[in-house]
Amino acid sequence: MENLLTQINNLKDEINNFSSNDENIAEVFRIKFIGSNGSVKSLMAEMKNVAPENKREMGKELNDLKLLAENKWEELKKTTDNRHPTSGSTIDLSLPGNSLPIGSRHPISIVRNKIVSIFQRLGFAVAEGPEIEDDWHNFTALNLPENHPARDMQDTFYVSQDPAWMLRTHTSSVQVREMEKGKLPIRIICPGRVYRNETISARAHCFFHQVEGLYIADDVSFADLKQTLYFFVKEMFGDDFKVRFRPSYFPFTEPSAEMDISCLICGGKGCNVCKHTGWVEILGCGMVHPNVLENCGIDSKKYSGFAFGMGIERITMLKYQIKDLRIFSENDVRFLKQFESAV
Ligand code: DAH
Repeated sequence: MENLLTQINNLKDEINNFSSNDENIAEVFRIKFIGSNGSVKSLMAEMKNVAPENKREMGKELNDLKLLAENKWEELKKTTDNRHPTSGSTIDLSLPGNSLPIGSRHPISIVRNKIVSIFQRLGFAVAEGPEIEDDWHNFTALNLPENHPARDMQDTFYVSQDPAWMLRTHTSSVQVREMEKGKLPIRIICPGRVYRNETISARAHCFFHQVEGLYIADDVSFADLKQTLYFFVKEMFGDDFKVRFRPSYFPFTEPSAEMDISCLICGGKGCNVCKHTGWVEILGCGMVHPNVLENCGIDSKKYSGFAFGMGIERITMLKYQIKDLRIFSENDVRFLKQFESAV
């Protein structure tokens, strides 16, 4: 028994004095002391030779030894684990990566998509046409024959080699193209870019965007037009504003009207955007002129329809309280980034 106790104490000293932060040496410790052929196990095997009256005391000594060896092993594992957090690799996988900057949609695209989705819910399909147009589709078919004074309302960029061609001044040309296809009824909206020879200012640019609408069927009335547009402005801007229709003139509609909403920027009190009137014009509209229907091969006695056209820039300015439309085409990322969350 003396002999066994001495061996236990010697092992305890050896374990207490052991230290290393090398994982290979730690493994040698494990094999030597607590492995299945290690010293602790072999001393435990000696228990069968211990006299019964000493078994209790010796059992306790051996148990202490076992715990001591196991605790030391845990300690060694920890020091070696800290040195090699990624098990031998020198790459720290917990570091954040390099993020790729993500762009955002342009506010004009956001609002165009919203306008399209509102009218799609009413059954309107999207139609598109060319940006370089001929005189017939941009003017003549729309009841604007050559020398008609209303052509001056829209300062046109003509193609210098052949002035029969021009950059379209409005999306109304797409109406003509769709009516000429001869498939009725027609219920379309036509978003697109248009061009005018205008002086660039806070309210006007030489290119901008419009959405045209056209509905032609058996029995379309002005009441249908009003309800459609009421629905649109409500969906677009909510309930907190007033709407009014004003009689107006367009060669391609009769009667014609313009739709105004109370200024969302000053709440109707008067500001630069509404020119201190409290009202902002948002679109032109009317019942399609019989001449236009006939020009496009549609029987004006049998069919009637309404049309409207709006500038997307104007709607976007009101929706996001933007006071100068030049900023839309300046590519200033500080401005564009503000629309990251609006999809
Ligand atoms: N084309 C007109 C413009 O650019 C807008 C417009 C007004 C379109 C009345 C229409 C309409 O279809 O009925 O100013």
